[in-house]
Amino acid sequence: MPAPEIPDPQIAAPEVQPTADGSLTAHSARYGQSYGSRFGAVSQARQVFVEGSGTHLHPSPRILEVGFGLGQNFRATLAVTAGRPLHYLAYEFDPVPATLLRDVATSDPLAAHPAWAALLEVWNENRGQPVQLEQPGVYVDIRLEDVTLAALPRNWASAVYLDGFSPDVNPEVWSPEFLGRLADALQAGGVLVTYSAAGHVRRGLQAAGLSVERRPGPLGKREVLRAVKRLP
Ligand SMILES: C[S@@+](CC[C@H](N)C(=O)[O-])C[C@H]1O[C@@H](n2cnc3c(N)ncnc32)[C@H](O)[C@@H]1O
Repeated sequence: MPAPEIPDPQIAAPEVQPTADGSLTAHSARYGQSYGSRFGAVSQARQVFVEGSGTHLHPSPRILEVGFGLGQNFRATLAVTAGRPLHYLAYEFDPVPATLLRDVATSDPLAAHPAWAALLEVWNENRGQPVQLEQPGVYVDIRLEDVTLAALPRNWASAVYLDGFSPDVNPEVWSPEFLGRLADALQAGGVLVTYSAAGHVRRGLQAAGLSVERRPGPLGKREVLRAVKRLP
């Protein structure tokens, strides 16, 4: 598999877009796709990623996210984990400007969450540097690098949010080899969730040893995938 291209600073910045549930997303000119579902960005984050992985019920969630993007999944996770320690490790190799992170979150009640406010401040000050934050009960580590080249933790995540752009335009994060590395990153009983139900993704997850289930998707998506690492 060829190495992914280095993001080109000449490509137009992503533009904010409304979605059907009233939340906002943005359109990426680089990939020709939206970051979140146009049928409802917050609904997708909640149903596919947070509830699909059981994170809303987990006593001490540890999330590994492929593609931090606009932080939609992060905010949806913050919304349901109050009072329980949350570790959030995300990878992003093409970080959006802090202004876009802020603008997309304006309609989201979670924009007022102290961890989100702190993240925005650091994102703005750091300008392209990784983000590490510790707020009461929330530990955030956002690594600005190509996730396919990163040294991922092993047996660590209670949930993997696999949220790259679609396999046709962003194939490196859906390859069988990389799916195997994501499976290694899951703790026993951990759950990988993704919005893609493509056959080759399902087969790649099965080949990585996970038990894969197709679930009904949110509006605009017939099926999504949930893949569990069996207990020993
Ligand atoms: C669909 S968007 C993610 C949306 C995000 N999860 C959210 O909640 O807003 C996909 C993201 O994956 C990132 N991405 C794609 N390939 C990557 C790679 N190889 N390494 C790191 N990030 C990658 C893109 O830059 C983009 O921000």
